[in-house]
Amino acid sequence: MASVSGFTFSKTWMLSVIYLLCIWLTSVRLESFTCKGHFDKCLCSTTTVECHGETQLKGDNIIDLYKDISDECERIVITGSNLTEMQPNFFGSCAGAPDLILKKLTYVDLSHNNIRRVNRKAFHCVPNLDTLIMSDNQWQIDKHDNEIGYFSKFPYLKHLDLRNSFEDGTDGSIYFYKLAHIFNDTDMFELETLDLSYNEFIVLSEDSANTLCELTNIKTLNFSHNLFNEPAMPTKSDCFHALETLDLSYNSIQYLTPEFMKEVDDVHKLNGKLKNVFMHENPFECDCGLQGTWQWLKDTKAPVNKEQLLCASSYQSMYNGKRVIDLELGDLVCQKAVVQSNIQSSVEVEVVLVVTIMLLVLVMSIIAFAFVHRDKLGLVARRWQNKNPGREVLVPYTILLPSEKGKDITI
Ligand SMILES: *[C@@H]1O[C@H](CO)[C@@H](O)[C@H](O)[C@H]1NC(C)=O
Ligand SMILES: *[C@@H]1O[C@H](CO)[C@@H](O)[C@H](O)[C@H]1NC(C)=O
Ligand SMILES: *[C@@H]1O[C@H](CO)[C@@H](O)[C@H](O)[C@H]1NC(C)=O
Repeated sequence: MASVSGFTFSKTWMLSVIYLLCIWLTSVRLESFTCKGHFDKCLCSTTTVECHGETQLKGDNIIDLYKDISDECERIVITGSNLTEMQPNFFGSCAGAPDLILKKLTYVDLSHNNIRRVNRKAFHCVPNLDTLIMSDNQWQIDKHDNEIGYFSKFPYLKHLDLRNSFEDGTDGSIYFYKLAHIFNDTDMFELETLDLSYNEFIVLSEDSANTLCELTNIKTLNFSHNLFNEPAMPTKSDCFHALETLDLSYNSIQYLTPEFMKEVDDVHKLNGKLKNVFMHENPFECDCGLQGTWQWLKDTKAPVNKEQLLCASSYQSMYNGKRVIDLELGDLVCQKAVVQSNIQSSVEVEVVLVVTIMLLVLVMSIIAFAFVHRDKLGLVARRWQNKNPGREVLVPYTILLPSEKGKDITI
């Protein structure tokens, strides 16, 4: 009995030990460990790969890291490396071997990696990506048209962060149409947020804006901190049905175009979901050019943050810093150039006129005085001549009547 119970005890004990060992092994397997290969600053687990400041990691040896990326991987974060170029099938390898598709990978953060070129097939083996962060890179879309790269095969992408992702063009700005190519033939039909802030974009034309219509589920479009001065909205019908937030704050907008205002109204009326149109921190020019914009701000039902739109410049700087909607239509005048020069010249004319009149009065009084006292003056002159015989008196012509002007008279 004792031996049986002893056996039972030891058997139970052994099973417990094995059970505990299994749990421990599993937990170790799940814990992060330094990835094999050469990457000390990377941590790999079954579901996550995370590298921060791994300078050994370059665009062409990512394959070494790939050995440590499990098929179960859900999340890859690589920041502070020098990836330079994203080759085709950057993660996974699915061209000839469909089993290397990372089906569970949903989150990729590649911010701050000096990425300059992105091959259009870079993300082809990660079909279920939900979030892609590519902020703070040097993607050269302004230089090599043929190397722009397209984002494709992103049917489930919801969040795309391209904040400060692009290298400045030669003059420090990027024409937005260069980027528009990327969206022209896209399959990002689930995309909800697109962050394009801090990119030095200029000129958002109607054509370029229309390419954004391909993003049929877009909810938040962030153009904040760019250099747009007359942004256009898409004119295609059937566009932006899901749009909730349009952020155009911190741009270079001075006036809004009639087309832009109309399209914002249309989107607001047609989709019924628009909640925010942010336009603060733009240098609105509060002169006659703003009348249309001002009227629209007064009338529109679109959720524009009107209270936060301030005048950056105005006629004689009178309204600088004031809220646009606090002004009256009559305040929006444009006489700067004309009125100023008028004032200047009218002041000049006045001065000249006054001086002329004064001179005239003076001359007339002297003439009148001379005329009234001509006898006395003659007497004085004769006496003076008697004292200085042989001398001629030269009477200045100004004291003579106009008819005698210029004549030298000897009295
Ligand atoms: C990054 O890589 C490129 C080419 O691979 C090289 O020319 C450049 O010097 C590298 N930059 C840094 C900061 O290591
Ligand atoms: C988008 O593609 C169409 C044809 O596919 C082309 O006509 C149009 O110019 C393109 N637009 C941009 C902005 O690239
Ligand atoms: C847009 O981007 C800017 C800068 O990146 C950020 O401050 C702002 O909150 C974003 N706007 C929205 C609506 O998310």
